[in-house]
Amino acid sequence: MRTYLVTGGAGFIGSNYIQYMFRKYGKDIRIINVDVLTYAGNLENLKAVEDYDNYTFVRADICDSDAIRKIFKENDIDRVVHFAAESHVDRSILNPEVFVKTNVLGTLVMLNAAKEAWELPDGTYKENKRFLHVSTDEVYGSLEEDGTYFYETTPIDPHSPYSASKASSDMLVKAYIDTYKFPANITNCSNNYGPYQFPEKLIPLIINNALQGKKLPVYGDGKNVRDWLYVDDHAKAIDMVQESGRLGERYNIGGHNEKQNIEIINIILETLIEMLPDSDPRKANVSKDLITYVTDRKGHDRRYAIAPDKIKAEIGWYPETMFEEGIKKTIKWYFENEDWMKNVTSMEYQKYYDDMYKNR
Ligand code: NAD
Ligand code: TYD
Repeated sequence: MRTYLVTGGAGFIGSNYIQYMFRKYGKDIRIINVDVLTYAGNLENLKAVEDYDNYTFVRADICDSDAIRKIFKENDIDRVVHFAAESHVDRSILNPEVFVKTNVLGTLVMLNAAKEAWELPDGTYKENKRFLHVSTDEVYGSLEEDGTYFYETTPIDPHSPYSASKASSDMLVKAYIDTYKFPANITNCSNNYGPYQFPEKLIPLIINNALQGKKLPVYGDGKNVRDWLYVDDHAKAIDMVQESGRLGERYNIGGHNEKQNIEIINIILETLIEMLPDSDPRKANVSKDLITYVTDRKGHDRRYAIAPDKIKAEIGWYPETMFEEGIKKTIKWYFENEDWMKNVTSMEYQKYYDDMYKNR
């Protein structure tokens, strides 16, 4: 039975990935989820699997080298899937330090612990061990609206403290691959959407605000472009890279689904009106009048667009969920899981929201 060590598995993508992996492999795998449970980590996301015999949760900080090494000592780990990170650009602009600590130093701790557990005296590694570092397309910087794309060969050019910290962690993983022949891959994925995403990110924030009749904040002119991928397609890509990717390689993941932010907001509003039953009192709150243009994000990247040619050609990955279907599934999940939203938008979220938006 193969054992996975997943970091940050209580967050948005990690929890979707864990559920995807149990759906795909059932009892053939074991997953150990290491998460310190920051504001973004929520064990409610894993309710469906928490009682499985082949699932274990360990509350630990990836920067705590003793705690991480202990997990490797007590378990024969075959696969590391490293999601744990501070992930929100706006927070990184307010408080960059924790991004460097978790995203850079935490990744170094993970690399060292895996290397120590897997390396043989002759400098080669135990068979069939693999580390996957989950990264973002934001490390490539910003594109013009000229039809160009991010390729794996595009120079790294991050602008926000978040993307700079992710780029730094990518560089460390590459250094371990190049220097120690460490068995790793890096994946750089575009913006994900789906269930369990914390409502500081565009799509769940707009759904949540629209349902409550609150203003929908659009940064700048609303024409910044993101390339949206349904979260299960990201989970599938990660699994395929770990099983069939060439060791040491970087793979871009994205679905050629570029949309302006204002388009996304309009689609959400139209879909909510279409899908909410007339008997739902929240339907009356949903209105285009809520759209409010606010001060732009500092250093706001204009456009992200991934060329997923390499992962398609080498591994045969392609996205299965088209945006029209994925956004409907996502919106339905949010309006059917009002309690989840209430629980995560606690006091701390309200404070964050007030600080982030009051003077915009
Ligand atoms: P998230 O913020 O929802 O979840 C992050 C998780 O990491 C949380 O459960 C949190 O508790 C945990 N964590 C944070 N600091 C930790 C620490 N010091 N020790 C242990 N656990 C810690 O993030 P997400 O959106 O699920 O993103 C996961 C990964 O995917 C990140 O590395 C991110 O850079 C990358 N990524 C995200 C997107 C996206 O659109 N969300 C796109 C591409 C790549
Ligand atoms: P976000 O979900 O924070 O992802 P990222 O910045 O990592 O791409 O933001 C997506 C886009 O939406 C980005 O261009 C910023 C914009 N945005 C708004 O216009 N209003 C908001 O309230 C938020 C959170 C984001």
